[in-house]
Amino acid sequence: MPHRPYVIDKLISAKTIAARIEDLAREIETSYAGCERLIVVGLLRGSFVFIADLVREIDMNIEVDFLEASSYGDSTESSKEVRILKDLRGKIGGKDVLLVEDIVDTGFTLKHVTALLESRKPRQLKTIALLDKPSRREVDIKANWTGFEIPDEFVVGYGIDFAQRNRNLPFIGKVRFTDEDPC
Ligand code: PRP
Repeated sequence: MPHRPYVIDKLISAKTIAARIEDLAREIETSYAGCERLIVVGLLRGSFVFIADLVREIDMNIEVDFLEASSYGDSTESSKEVRILKDLRGKIGGKDVLLVEDIVDTGFTLKHVTALLESRKPRQLKTIALLDKPSRREVDIKANWTGFEIPDEFVVGYGIDFAQRNRNLPFIGKVRFTDEDPC
């Protein structure tokens, strides 16, 4: 897919993300205290870096599973139709579950996926998103935990892509197009 030229400006450093994840992990341990096992579900593809760092900070008996959903494809606009491309391997009925998202934008993905998981009757389902863009919300939903609230910028890195590129950046950056007329 051809693109306008762009550069990436650092928005949230790897160090800041790591510190926030430590705090979130402590809150999650407290919230799920007494649970025999926590099923941590990563929503692919964007959450793969976040979930890897998050589970290594949570001192609990953890099982990891993945669900793949897509509403953007290679586009920058939500299709508002969330497609499940890969379902969970395990059953979550009666279990303690944490759904891990990279970013909540319009909210369609989180709403659709939480409804799907709730229909399987977990004992409890909570959600965490590394990033939240509340100004973009089109449906009324918020994750139980949010790493950072951000303005309406096009962000990449730490698992998040721009047309499948830049997921491997260790920090969150914002895209700045370099062919914009400065006037
Ligand atoms: C992105 C992102 C979230 C979702 C958030 O997924 O990873 O899952 O969009 O947007 P929303 O709140 O407007 O629904 P995408 O469909 O791009 O798939 P990906 O995770 O594979 O990049």
